[in-house]
Amino acid sequence: MRVFHTAAIAAFCIVLAACSKGEEKSESGSTPVAAVAAAPSDTEKAALLAALPAPYNAGDLANGQRKFALCRSCHTIAEGGPALTGPNLYGVFGRPSGAVADYAYSPALKAAGFVWDGEHLDKWLADPRGFMPGTKMAFAGLKDPKDRVDLIAYLKVETGFKPAP
Ligand code: HEC
Repeated sequence: MRVFHTAAIAAFCIVLAACSKGEEKSESGSTPVAAVAAAPSDTEKAALLAALPAPYNAGDLANGQRKFALCRSCHTIAEGGPALTGPNLYGVFGRPSGAVADYAYSPALKAAGFVWDGEHLDKWLADPRGFMPGTKMAFAGLKDPKDRVDLIAYLKVETGFKPAP
């Protein structure tokens, strides 16, 4: 009888231990989910940068941000940001050219028919009107190739670009 009693208590303890272990698991599991929901931290941006295809993975985000000052008067980059003189650029990578609904593009950009990627953006930023005669983007061009790499890396990190898995 005594032996049975001890065994029952032991079994009960094991069940309790299993329960509290399960609780611990779900508690620690919920912490990273909450962190992902927040805006990307500098550490997360560094990880996004490192995951970009070359040469953008070696881009200088601080210089890219400084160069974006040249675009800021005409473009917003936050998700859901308004059009200014130019369209909002969130999600531009992987998006067809001239595809923001309700933005009045030039006939040239509307008819261009390509998908924005680093290469197209590089040519566009070097000389918008040389690359696309007829565009209404009044920007002289960013002549230094290294500045363009840095700016494109910055834009990829800030506009929700997801590298192919
Ligand atoms: C003076 C205002 C102005 C400045 C400065 C400017 N843009 Fe633009 N941008 C525009 C306009 C206007 C358009 C639409 C062009 C058209 O329809 O031909 C445009 C279009 C674009 C597009 C095409 C978007 C799409 O949906 O196809 C990209 C990409 C872009 N700009 C990036 C930039 C970047 C990066 C900079 C900074 C280096 C910059 N622009 C500077 C006015 C500007």
